[in-house]
Parts: sequence; C-alpha cells; structure tokens
Amino acid sequence: MTSICCIGAGYVGGPTMAKISQKCPDISVTVVDTNADRIAAWQGDDLPVYEPGLLDVVRESRDRNLFFSTDIESAIGAADIIFICVNTPTKTYGIGAHRAADLRYLESCARQIAAVADSDKIVVEKSTLPVRTAESLKRILDAAQGAARFQVLSNPEFLAEGSAMEDLENPDRVLIGGERTPEAAAALQTVADIYARWVPRERIITTNLWSSELSKLAANAFLAQRISSINAISALCEATGADVDEVAFAIGTDRRIGPRFLKASIGFGGSCFQKDILNLVYLCEFFGLNEVAAYWEQVVIMNDYQKQRFSHRIVRTLFNTISGKRIAILGFAFKKDTNDTRESSAIYVCRDLLAEDAKLHIHDPRVAPARIRTDLGVTEEDPSVAVASDPYEAAAGADAIVILTEWDAFRVDQLDYERIFKMMRKPAFLFDGRNVVDLDRVRQIGFEAFGVGKG
Ligand code: UDX
Ligand code: ADP
Repeated sequence: MTSICCIGAGYVGGPTMAKISQKCPDISVTVVDTNADRIAAWQGDDLPVYEPGLLDVVRESRDRNLFFSTDIESAIGAADIIFICVNTPTKTYGIGAHRAADLRYLESCARQIAAVADSDKIVVEKSTLPVRTAESLKRILDAAQGAARFQVLSNPEFLAEGSAMEDLENPDRVLIGGERTPEAAAALQTVADIYARWVPRERIITTNLWSSELSKLAANAFLAQRISSINAISALCEATGADVDEVAFAIGTDRRIGPRFLKASIGFGGSCFQKDILNLVYLCEFFGLNEVAAYWEQVVIMNDYQKQRFSHRIVRTLFNTISGKRIAILGFAFKKDTNDTRESSAIYVCRDLLAEDAKLHIHDPRVAPARIRTDLGVTEEDPSVAVASDPYEAAAGADAIVILTEWDAFRVDQLDYERIFKMMRKPAFLFDGRNVVDLDRVRQIGFEAFGVGKG
C-alpha cells in the first residue's frame, strides 16, 4: 500500500489530503502537525478549518485511510511520499523583513525528514515558496547521512478558501515541477498518477522545478492585480459618480478580459496574495530588477490605500467624528465561507476605527470571538470591542453598520434590514465594503447607504 505523509494540518494540508484520501482509498494518508490541539480538532467534528463540504469528505475516509497524528517521526518513516504543507508567512525580522518568506518551518521539516528517513522518499513542496526553495530543500535532504535517496518536487496548491473542496474536485490544472533527471521524472509520474485518479490527464501540467514555483507566485500576483485594478477604478467612480459594478460588467464582457475577479471591494485579504506579491517583489529586487519590483509592489500599495480609503469614508460621513460611537461590524473573515482571518481587510478597517475611539460590535458567522480579539490586540475586558452572536445584537443602538465580509447571511433577502434599521440611532448609516447589499433597497428603508465605488 502506498503511504503518504502530509506535514502541516492547516488550510492547505487538511482539505487536500481529505480529497486525496477520498479519491484513493487504497492509499494511506497521515496528516501530522506539531500543534496537538489542531490534530485533536481534526479527529472530531468541530474541524479547525471551516470549508463547505469538508466535514463530509473527512468523515468518509477518517480512520479508513485518513489519519491525523502528532507522531511526525513515525509518519515520515512509513511514507513513500511526503507533502510539505507548513506555513510560510512573510518574515517579520532581519534580512528581507516584511517581504521575503519565512522559511524556518520548511527548513525544520526538511531537517526532520533527513534525520528520520531510512528509505527512499518523494518530497513534495506544496507551501507557496520563493523560487529555488526546492534547491535548498534538496541540499538539506541530500546531506542526510543515511542510505535514503530523496526526489524533490514542487506541486503548488491553487485552491481558494471557501471553495476548496470544489477546487480540489475539479481543478483548472494540477501543476507538478521536477528536475529533468530520470529519477525525478519517475517521481513526478508517481505523483501525477495519484491526481489522475480524478483529474483529466490534460489538466496535469509538468514543468521544471523553478517554473512550477514561479507559476504559483505569478498566478497570485495576476489575480491580485485584477482586484487592485478594479479597486483603483472604484476610487475614480466614487469621485465622478460612475458605478463600478456597471464598469466591471462592461469591461468583463470583453472575452480577453473576462468577468471574474473584477469585484470592487475593500481590498483583498487572505494568507496568499499579499505574501506572494511581497515575495515576488523581494525576488525581483534581489536580482536587481527594480522596475519590475516597483510594478508589482504597487498592487499591494493600492490594496492598502483601498482599505484606508474606506475607513476614512466612514469617519467623514459620520460627521468627522466616531469617538464613542457604536459601530456594528458584519463579517470579519477575509472572504465568505471560511473562518480564516489572515490579512483580512476587516482587521485593518477595525483598527482604523478603534484608533478614532469607536466602540465596535462585531459579528461573524464562523470566526471565533477569541480570534477576533487576538487579531485586534484587545482583551475580553476591553470596552471598545464586543463580539455579538448575531447581526441584530451587533446593530442594536449603533450609528452605523459596516459590512466587511460578503457572507450570504448579510444579503438583503437573508437579513431583516428593516428590523435592524429600527434598532439603530438615527440617522442610520450603512457601509458595504463588499458590494453584497442592494444599496437602493436599503436606502428605501431609510439608511444613508454607501458602497465601494458608488458615487
Ligand atoms: C487565492 C487564490 O485564488 C488561490 O488560487 C491560491 O491558491 C491562494 O490564494 P484565497 O486567498 O483563498 O485564494 O481566496 P480568493 O478567492 O482568491 O480571494 C482573495 C481575496 O480577494 C479575498 O479577500 C476576496 O474577498 C478578494 N477578492 C476576490 C476581491 O476583493 N474581489 C474579487 O473580485 C475577488
Ligand atoms: P496553510 O494555509 O499554508 O495551510 P496553516 O497555518 O493553516 O497554513 O497551516 C500550517 C500548519 O503547519 C500549522 O498547523 C502548523 O502548526 C504546521 N507546522 C508548521 N511547522 C511545522 C513542522 N515543522 N512540523 C509539523 N507541522 C508544522
């Protein structure tokens, strides 16, 4: 029986291994992590990652051929293929601080594999990494004293949170990079054969190692660039009275542009976009390509501008002061259908409002109250932040409601905005940072309503 070990039981490792184990009941898949609480949560029904459809898939294969464990050494020892899915956050210290990826978790995995392995392994990097990381990985593994030989492959993950199970079931492509040696080609074939159980062969792309690593950074940079482009236009729309949704629709009908990823918002969040672009910027600077670095950095600068522009608009509209005012925040996750808050625009907008001395009442359907407080750096006793268990509780007595995540539950047909309006101080304001509410309808109720890119 083929045996897979996945190091890192997070948003990438958990869903990906759940899907592989579902599709390949004859392959044993063990997901390991140093975080014992996380592993325990994967063993129960309250999974650490919220993804629509994930629990069903986990239940189907858990304890059949899908296992969660903290015994990393045994899992590495038993594995033929090791997927590395540990986090690679932006460095906060030293050389490349706030730009380069922090590779310490990855390096510690490599060293552990080198120390433990006593048989040949295919090592697959799945975490998003700077180009040529596979080379470092290979050097550490090849320095191991034992007889084991390692083949290093790059297989970047393109799933988006909130639609992970669908993306894994039906990916646009699976990308696998490897060295051009017969041994690497054989390893690449082994991994391709696993995906081929459910992904059409023509969607499995193979490249050299560096192309594969760079493709992930480039794909995310292109996607984020579209969002910053439409957000830049949204600022112009607000200044001139055009409607950004109409502009996005009109330009998206051009088949060369296409309609997706053109939704104006208070900026992109999530663990990937900003991190990967900064990584790309660092890489370009490293190779002396300063113009290229500046070009991509502007995507992040525009994103920061968009978040700040939105909080400034709130303050300006509420008569230039929100000191002591109660503001209901609807949504805290970086997008709908996830409990992930990493780099969520909500964090930045809330911090700006707190700096103006507002009192925030925050509700999110999936984000734990402790997570919200940690992200905002406040304790449970802090009177400036309250976490509400539903939108009505959040809105009671508020001057304004601010929608920061596009959860379906906040749409006009799901939430009783008339009831909310009656509970609020007048004049009542509504700011929709995610373009989920029909502004005309809420204006009819009596709100003074504002959306991103709406005059
Ligand atoms: C992204 C990539 O899509 C995925 O391929 C990669 O593997 C990881 O990074 P993810 O961050 O999970 O996935 O979600 P995504 O759907 O890309 O959204 C990222 C952010 O962009 C969210 O904050 C979302 O609200 C925002 N967004 C997206 C917009 O503001 N407008 C859009 O039109 C689309
Ligand atoms: P991603 O979104 O990339 O999946 P997460 O932070 O959700 O990132 O998950 C990464 C996981 O990797 C975390 O649960 C973390 O505890 C785990 N991890 C980090 N370093 C190691 C390591 N050396 N060994 C095992 N697990 C690790």
